[in-house]
Amino acid sequence: MALDLNAWTIGSLVGLLLLLPSIMGFFGKNKFNVSGKTVLLTGASEGMGKSVAQQLAKKGASIIIVARNVGKLEEALADIRASFPLSPYSPQLIASAANPSTQRFHYISADLSEPEGAQHVTNEATAWNNNQSPDIVWCIAGSALPDLFISTPLSKMRQQMDINYWSCADMAHAILNKWLTPFAEDKERHLVFTSSVVAFYPVAGYAPYAPSKAAIKSLSDSLAQEVLLYGDKVKIHTVFPGTILSRGLEQEDKTKPGVTFILEEADPKQTPDQVASQSIAGLERGEYLVTVSWLGGLMRACAWGGSVRNNWVVDTFYTWLASIVWMFVGRDMDGKVVAYRKKHGHPSTYPKKA
Ligand SMILES: *[C@@H]1O[C@H](CO)[C@@H](O)[C@H](O)[C@H]1NC(C)=O
Repeated sequence: MALDLNAWTIGSLVGLLLLLPSIMGFFGKNKFNVSGKTVLLTGASEGMGKSVAQQLAKKGASIIIVARNVGKLEEALADIRASFPLSPYSPQLIASAANPSTQRFHYISADLSEPEGAQHVTNEATAWNNNQSPDIVWCIAGSALPDLFISTPLSKMRQQMDINYWSCADMAHAILNKWLTPFAEDKERHLVFTSSVVAFYPVAGYAPYAPSKAAIKSLSDSLAQEVLLYGDKVKIHTVFPGTILSRGLEQEDKTKPGVTFILEEADPKQTPDQVASQSIAGLERGEYLVTVSWLGGLMRACAWGGSVRNNWVVDTFYTWLASIVWMFVGRDMDGKVVAYRKKHGHPSTYPKKA
């Protein structure tokens, strides 16, 4: 009997193929189990970093947060320890920590854009953690100073590289020197970087910022392969958030060019909690390059290059789809810039920003 391959069968086969990884993921084991682990988080006194700290504490991790401002660190640590509102189902305060008697919490005040910052933090964290290096390091510290390229002082662009890229590279260097020695205990460890969707598609106005985030992706790809020299216990990941509703966003909006607001209109605005939970969910599924929204996923599909895919079947399919979709999206975005020029004239005539 001939196989009747009508549209429905093909449709169901493709559907099944696409669903299979999520079904497997649903039943698959958690690849980022933080219970009983010590997690070092940079940039965790507010925004996404603080949300990640709270959510990992709820999952049973001991937490070390790093930032510059001691006042903010103390406040954040108190929130991470136990700050949950009264639940309607429970008469008691629900503690943030899953297991408050064994979980420990600590903060380190440091400036990670300074050359020795990461080394100092790694040493202090290890000393505090009973002379064991932390099991997981997640670099979240960063800031965005969007502006038009020719009006950005060169010093500001170097500062962006220090705060965003060098803080990650220095931290990776310090912690991998502990994890990858011949004497290191052979256990699972994760190094997570935080990049941005502008590393995939850097729109106008992000020239001072996007290269520092693209450099993180490049470091991540290179290290993900290099660690294979040492075994299979150390995993590298990079997370790519889009717009996060936070105090950092309020700061960056002050210098953001008008055209950039238009170009990022379609980007879903997410709360720090949403970004944290989507990031953690991706890591728990064992993903390497983690996006946290549908648009982030589409941008990633345009930019895989040679990076290891989270799922070769699904990601290859999206890559085909995205290459078609982007014929229209890319032209539309360039068209918006041209329309902005026609309406507003030469950028030197724009009203001055604060
Ligand atoms: C996570 O790790 C803890 C401690 O090692 C273990 O008790 C727990 O069963 C693990 N959970 C999962 C889902 O693997």
